[in-house]
Amino acid sequence: MQIRARMSMSADGFVTTPTGWPSLTADPAFVSGQSHGIREFLEGCEAALMGRTTFEPALTNERWPWPDLDVFVLGSHRPAGTPDHVVTDSDPLRLLEKLRAANRGGDVHLIGGPRTIGTFHALGALDTLELVVLPLLFGSGMRLTPALSPDTGLAFQRERALPGGAVEIVYSCRGSRSRLPGTPASQR
Ligand SMILES: NC(=O)c1ccc[n+]([C@@H]2O[C@H](COP(=O)([O-])OP(=O)(O)OC[C@H]3O[C@@H](n4cnc5c(N)ncnc54)[C@H](OP(=O)(O)O)[C@@H]3O)[C@@H](O)[C@H]2O)c1
Repeated sequence: MQIRARMSMSADGFVTTPTGWPSLTADPAFVSGQSHGIREFLEGCEAALMGRTTFEPALTNERWPWPDLDVFVLGSHRPAGTPDHVVTDSDPLRLLEKLRAANRGGDVHLIGGPRTIGTFHALGALDTLELVVLPLLFGSGMRLTPALSPDTGLAFQRERALPGGAVEIVYSCRGSRSRLPGTPASQR
């Protein structure tokens, strides 16, 4: 089982629009039906993992966003209306144990947001970080950092151009170390 985070972001580095929606929702190519590679990404996934803030809007969606995935949510309480099959926990380690216990060999899509990605990365549980950089500038919004530590070591794996001008970049987060200038060798 691999835990794979995938975030869309504007070219100026924001993972949400200025009004707090995931960046992808502002991309005309996505709105007109381009999947931005998510279908291929989900082929190997059996579960979705996310923070409560990212999860809650799904409860009022017309369509359940994860019909084919087991869903795990990190949050201090179980939001009203959460379907019975959704697993929630307030403790990230305990949630990770539940995720592993339920795993049938597929990967986990770590949806976000930044705080939850940072949490699982701090536990050493994040395997890959995939970024879909959109051809848009927002000027403001939420950044991936500092919730995900700027010291996160990223080892480049691959990239590809997506229809509509977006670019997908995949980094491994395991076995890589910070290469920020001035980082003492003992901390690398
Ligand atoms: N661009 C993209 O691809 C993308 C993808 C997903 C989300 N987003 C955006 O990201 C934004 C939300 O991001 P976010 O970072 O603020 O929130 P988040 O990670 O979705 O959820 C944060 C919540 O998760 C729980 N949590 C996280 N870390 C925890 C820890 N260490 N211990 C206990 N609980 C923990 C807490 O729930 P409690 O408050 O219940 O304690 C916390 O308030 C949204 O605006 C969403 O649109 C963007």
